[in-house]
Amino acid sequence: MKGKTALITGSTDGVGRYVAERLAARGARVIVHGRDRARGEAVVERIRRQGGDARLLIADLSSLAEVRSLAEAVKRETGGVDALINNAGIGTSGTQRELSADGYELRFAVNYLAGFLLTRLLLPTLESRAASRIVNVASAGQQAIDFADVMLTRGYIGARAYRQSKLAQIMFTFDLAQELAGRNVAVNCLHPATFMDTTMVRLSGVRPISTVEEGGEAILQLVDESSLEGVSGRYFNGMRESRADPQAYDTTARRKLRALSFELVGLADPLDRRT
Ligand SMILES: NC(=O)c1ccc[n+]([C@@H]2O[C@H](COP(=O)([O-])OP(=O)(O)OC[C@H]3O[C@@H](n4cnc5c(N)ncnc54)[C@H](OP(=O)(O)O)[C@@H]3O)[C@@H](O)[C@H]2O)c1
Repeated sequence: MKGKTALITGSTDGVGRYVAERLAARGARVIVHGRDRARGEAVVERIRRQGGDARLLIADLSSLAEVRSLAEAVKRETGGVDALINNAGIGTSGTQRELSADGYELRFAVNYLAGFLLTRLLLPTLESRAASRIVNVASAGQQAIDFADVMLTRGYIGARAYRQSKLAQIMFTFDLAQELAGRNVAVNCLHPATFMDTTMVRLSGVRPISTVEEGGEAILQLVDESSLEGVSGRYFNGMRESRADPQAYDTTARRKLRALSFELVGLADPLDRRT
């Protein structure tokens, strides 16, 4: 990772913080991202004390305007990234349906749509690098998206909101890999590990059964493992390639999600000849 720049969203805590620290130790210029300045500064300081190169960018991913500002700041302050790790997320806890600043169901907005927009905005800089990688940190917890009620206005359950957002990340990964085939950007996704000892898991009341190191190493494999050069459009369970929910392989569903996502973030689809 020497000489490379990596952005890890949600690296103020949990597995994102672990990945940021490990990438810095491998010589990467790390962009720590979070919504809490004090927690972010603490991570940056720790990396610098260990001789690493890190800077902090703040953005609340529950606002698409802040996602846009984050992408601008990345381009302005770093000239772009070689690795983008869409890791920030909210877990399954909570019984009340919540909305993002843009009025979208909160887990769909933060866990999926923010990463979709950030990726689309940073794609030109990723493509300008020799070989770059995008890693979407999804989950084995997946549930098919009901396209008649994506915003979960009926019978809201936090776990369902989480699972559909995680499957959306996987569908996005497969769709983007197809679009980028033959180009210099690889995009993969994974379930890092089951119930790691993180804030998200503790808040959901579940007893952790995996370590942050275990999930972190699975993410790092997709960011930095040389034998995976050119491997794109795959879903991993930990260190091994695996199968996702059947909806991820349904091209009609993927097309629907793609169209909806471009519409919700207000961007034109570069593959849509009508735009
Ligand atoms: N833990 C597991 O066992 C497990 C299993 C499968 C998949 N995953 C996935 O792994 C990823 C990381 O999870 P984790 O367990 O490390 O969780 P975590 O410790 O709760 O960390 C989540 C990170 O996301 C950030 N974040 C949350 N909402 C945000 C927002 N609106 N704007 C900006 N940043 C925001 C948090 O910032 P704050 O510090 O400000 O809260 C924190 O840095 C998630 O995508 C999760 O779905 C985790």
